[in-house]
Amino acid sequence: MNRPSSQPSGFSPRPAKVLVLDTSAAVAQAVASHILSKVKKSPASVLGLATGETPKPVYAALVAAYRAGEADFSRTTTFNLDEYAGLADSHPDSFAAYMERELFGATNFQPARVHLLKGDAADMGEEAVAYETAIAASGGIDVQLLGIGSNGHIGFNEPGAPSSSRTRLVELSPSTLEANLSSMTALGAVPRQAITMGMATILDAREIILMATGARKAEAVAKAILQDPDISCPASLLSLHPNVYWYLDHDAASLLDNART
Ligand code: F6R
Repeated sequence: MNRPSSQPSGFSPRPAKVLVLDTSAAVAQAVASHILSKVKKSPASVLGLATGETPKPVYAALVAAYRAGEADFSRTTTFNLDEYAGLADSHPDSFAAYMERELFGATNFQPARVHLLKGDAADMGEEAVAYETAIAASGGIDVQLLGIGSNGHIGFNEPGAPSSSRTRLVELSPSTLEANLSSMTALGAVPRQAITMGMATILDAREIILMATGARKAEAVAKAILQDPDISCPASLLSLHPNVYWYLDHDAASLLDNART
């Protein structure tokens, strides 16, 4: 697998670029530094962003860098991965509201360059096509940030999602409904459907950062990195991509051999 000369130091010489750090805080700091150096080098970068618990400290670090005058996001474009179906962006449990709370509301990302899927779009098919068109019109995603579900999902591409899939409406799996319940502040249940970038949309990104922390992710991480690519573990399809960086803490990496740096 290709390893670009710009590869950050510390990554193990494995087919996948895997960096294992002591703590989840160290992982977040390393991912934030990766993103900040991209944006510093190319202020008009196009970032693909994720929600969930894992990237929250990354966004906190980006906000801190902005407040310290060390980062300028005014020319940076973003595309979020996914959104719950049925939720307006004003709903507190929407990913749009999450992004406003965690990142956009405290930095100088420009609303015109921020792209979020509309969970309450009248026509999800049209919404999906328009999103793919907007990504293409932006020149494509330079760096896609991903978390991973304990069932191996990326975005809301659940096990079985075809590698050719594009942005579309999907059903969430029972394990995802259960995992995400605790993050619902206003809703008593997780919406059963979501709109998500597809596997092909994600794999089109020029560079991918997958971050995983905690023992709950260890099995999915091991399957994704060690097994042959298979749609039963969507994250394993990342091995088809030449430029994926895995940022893991020891707990998430605990089922990998020789991954320690
Ligand atoms: C979120 C997303 C999901 C999460 C995954 C892990 O936009 O696309 O794939 O990255 O469910 O979530 P956390 O980080 O909450 O464990």
